[in-house]
Amino acid sequence: MSDLRVQYADRIIDGKAFAEGLRARIGAAVSEINQTHGLTPSLAVVLVGDDPASQVYVRNKGRAAEAAGIAAADHRLDASTSQEELLDLVATLNNDPAIHGILVQLPLPDQIDPAAVIDAIDPAKDVDGFHVVNTGRLATGQMSGPNAALVPCTPLGCRMMLEDRLGDLAGLEAVVLGRSNIVGKPMAQLLVQASCTVTVAHSKTRDLADVCRRADILIAAVGRPQMVHGDWIKSGAAVIDVGINRVPAPTDEEPDKMGLVGDVDFDTAIAVAGAITPVPGGVGPMTIACLLAN
Ligand code: GUN
Repeated sequence: MSDLRVQYADRIIDGKAFAEGLRARIGAAVSEINQTHGLTPSLAVVLVGDDPASQVYVRNKGRAAEAAGIAAADHRLDASTSQEELLDLVATLNNDPAIHGILVQLPLPDQIDPAAVIDAIDPAKDVDGFHVVNTGRLATGQMSGPNAALVPCTPLGCRMMLEDRLGDLAGLEAVVLGRSNIVGKPMAQLLVQASCTVTVAHSKTRDLADVCRRADILIAAVGRPQMVHGDWIKSGAAVIDVGINRVPAPTDEEPDKMGLVGDVDFDTAIAVAGAITPVPGGVGPMTIACLLAN
């Protein structure tokens, strides 16, 4: 472990440990469902093509589901699959009462419109929370009851870690760096619901570093390796790093070695932040745990 990780150990938000606890609670809930209703929750995981990163994500999701007692049915389709064929599979899964959740891994090959596929998933089975019915319910604050929003997993995990570390988030200044449908936009919605004052910043934002320095909570979700430096961060701020970037990390023994870094420059950030998620071991494990929760 690096000296900084030892020196500032109490600033690190351990997403891996948090996710293990959450997964254990989900496992207990699954066995309760099993005993009371004689039912095994089942997740269909659809992967089109052979993108190596997607293959790893899909494998990890399937394993995590099975470890929690959820059945995971894998559907691997060829990279040349047409949109119509994929929509047929989604329709079959929608109509199968033994399937409770459907996940179509993104990105999809160019011949398939992801919006058309997401639109076709039954909102009640949309464990990613990407369907417009779920994004609409999130935006309007429909968060409980039989028609509650299914919330995208990454931002959901981020908010859980923030509330665990900071307690009530009301009144805090939050800056979300990135405006994707998967992370930035739903993250902003969840922070508004928690009564934060929220700014969504992006590639066209002027004086980006100044905007970030206002934040009590800074969420980095731009996909640019180590873009956020310590001098962008207000002293004591909570920093959530959503980035997962593969970069060269050569050593004398392994000159071609690759490593994972976030969107935050961890070493300069941890010296300033009050709390920070590492990469790996921060947001990633919580995303999978929240998928199981959905
Ligand atoms: N690709 C990258 N992140 C995600 C995710 O959360 N869900 C799906 N389905 N695909 C992704």
